[in-house]
Amino acid sequence: MDVVDRAVSILRSAGPFLAFTGAGISTESGIPDFRGPDGVWTKVDPAEFTIDRYLTRRDTRVRSWRVRRDSGALEARPNRGHQALARLWEADRLVGVVTQNIDGLHQAAGVPADAVVELHGNAHRSVCVDCGHDRPTAEVLALLDDVDDPRCSECGGIVKVDVVFFGEMLPPGALERSFSLASDAGAVLAVGSTLSVFPAAGVPLEAVRAGRPLVIVNQGPTELDDLATVRVDGPAGAVLSTLADALR
Ligand code: APR
Ligand code: ZN
Repeated sequence: MDVVDRAVSILRSAGPFLAFTGAGISTESGIPDFRGPDGVWTKVDPAEFTIDRYLTRRDTRVRSWRVRRDSGALEARPNRGHQALARLWEADRLVGVVTQNIDGLHQAAGVPADAVVELHGNAHRSVCVDCGHDRPTAEVLALLDDVDDPRCSECGGIVKVDVVFFGEMLPPGALERSFSLASDAGAVLAVGSTLSVFPAAGVPLEAVRAGRPLVIVNQGPTELDDLATVRVDGPAGAVLSTLADALR
């Protein structure tokens, strides 16, 4: 039996399972990952992305907005991998989706927003660090023609995309909700993540500790490979489409 068949058989017999996703599910939508061969961290220093540096250095904010606008990430569309997870949700195969991604593509593919836990926030929203006033990031990016460090329209405070910068806490309740989904799940399907960043990677780990099967779909190694019941080393779009076809 090949690894995809084994993954299908495990996920079929496990009952509703948790999908846990990382940047690798969105690369086929044109959004770079972080630690893959062309990942973001091969080009820029993660230290640039600490909340302290963002709040204290104007040049960091200016560069951050410019990179965000030029990346085109806000215009990305869901790919076959996101669509496959939406089909699995429709077929009542998922307890929910926990994602490390900030691109909102699971919801755009049709998974209801209340079934998606965004551990690291969502780049489509921006928020004032002083008064909490939020607005669509697209509106803030549109200001960049005139200002390079856009400020809050309510109080003049610093604005940031509503994502978790290094050094920031995760959104309140996100981790607890994720662990609760993991404990309700019959298995975890981890897709497109090196499973190297905590506390996020603690979610699939929790399921393994509870004796649930872990199915990993990822191109290249992950930190939890030794705990995987089965590992499929292949492109998320194609592998997830095959899984969704088999499990519908
Ligand atoms: N199909 C399958 N795997 C893929 C694909 C693809 N199309 N494209 C990339 N990958 C793999 C990469 O080889 C890599 O192993 O997906 C993995 C992505 O891992 P990371 O880049 O580490 O992304 P992720 O695990 O989501 O990072 C977690 O780190 O920097 C922080 O906040 C950031 O949320 C991010 C967190
Ligand atoms: Zn404000």
